[in-house]
Amino acid sequence: MATGGLSQTAAAKDAQKKIRQNMDILILGGTGFIGPHMVREALRRGHTVSLFNRGKSNDTLFPDLKLYKGDRDGGLDVLKGNKWDAVVDNSGYVPRHVEDSARALKDVSSHYLYVSTISTYASFGIANDENSPLGKLDDETVEEVTGETYGPLKALCEKRAAAQIDADQLTILRPTYICGPGDHTDRFSYWPIRTARGGEMLWPGSREDKAQIIDVRDFANFTIDCLEQSIAGIFNTVTPAGEYTMGNLHDDCLAVSASDMKAVWVGADFLEEQKLLEGREIPIWAPPAGEYGKVAYVNGEKAVAAGLRNRPIRETARDALAWWKTLPEERTSKMRAGLDAEQEAKALAAWKEKSG
Ligand SMILES: NC(=O)c1ccc[n+]([C@@H]2O[C@H](COP(=O)([O-])OP(=O)(O)OC[C@H]3O[C@@H](n4cnc5c(N)ncnc54)[C@H](OP(=O)(O)O)[C@@H]3O)[C@@H](O)[C@H]2O)c1
Repeated sequence: MATGGLSQTAAAKDAQKKIRQNMDILILGGTGFIGPHMVREALRRGHTVSLFNRGKSNDTLFPDLKLYKGDRDGGLDVLKGNKWDAVVDNSGYVPRHVEDSARALKDVSSHYLYVSTISTYASFGIANDENSPLGKLDDETVEEVTGETYGPLKALCEKRAAAQIDADQLTILRPTYICGPGDHTDRFSYWPIRTARGGEMLWPGSREDKAQIIDVRDFANFTIDCLEQSIAGIFNTVTPAGEYTMGNLHDDCLAVSASDMKAVWVGADFLEEQKLLEGREIPIWAPPAGEYGKVAYVNGEKAVAAGLRNRPIRETARDALAWWKTLPEERTSKMRAGLDAEQEAKALAAWKEKSG
């Protein structure tokens, strides 16, 4: 009875929400990793989707959709003379590009959603919420996207979008690592895929260390929710802060891969000594005492209150692994993140020698 009462209240609340239907949605960057998930979700809900991109990435993916072919760098003219109910800006890395598209599209659409990132935050020594300080560039004319400039550039992109678009028509989403089927970075996928290979496997730090991601499908769902319900504002889009552990990830990876993998937990100091924390060798995880010690503590409660629903990460691991198995050998022969077999064997041997 009590559950029935609760669900009735939720249903009544849902009925009160104004859901926009049959929208015309323009997606800037709908053909990379995240874009196709948004496109499919919007189509599934009965909306019409048009794309704007250069035609370089996955150009055969959506043959039935209207494509405005152009480069964000000066090539927005192909969009002139059209109107949309909403625009998703999923390919903005350079402030000038975001400013140009926001200016060009503000009068021909009533909603602009900019896909930003948690990398906008100035520091991960603290647990960030949406009001935390953002990173800044010393020189705001810089346009080159590097590991150092990516976050501050995205922060400046947000600012430029906000200067063009009224606050009640602008949504800014700040996802953390976006993971799941189609992820071309291999950062999260490394863990289930390596687990599936079996044998002794290097795991960093301890089982208690935290990890935080967002499943690409949950992110896409929330994006379309924001458009349908005209949800404006800034939202971190993440799994719950400080909850999921590397131990959970280990267990989930084992559960979805039917593998004989045996974990060897290796200390953070040792990994640093071995210079394995400088690139993408140990993806997703960061040493809890280091510069990125609070990267898995980003507060996502605001998005959850607005409707973000996170699936269990075990599903993300299962589906990333299933997707990987569909890829050709030329793609799977070398992962783009994680330790390769030789690096891992060398590190494990050195760890055993050190720890006796
Ligand atoms: N992946 C993550 O974990 C993650 C985390 C946080 C935030 N984000 C943000 O999510 C967004 C999408 O990421 P993604 O990984 O899906 O990107 P992606 O796979 O690189 O896809 C980029 C899309 O943008 C288009 N595009 C790129 N440059 C363009 C240009 N100059 N003009 C027109 N179109 C262009 C591409 O198509 P063409 O090549 O055909 O032009 C493609 O459709 C980005 O804004 C990123 O900052 C990603």
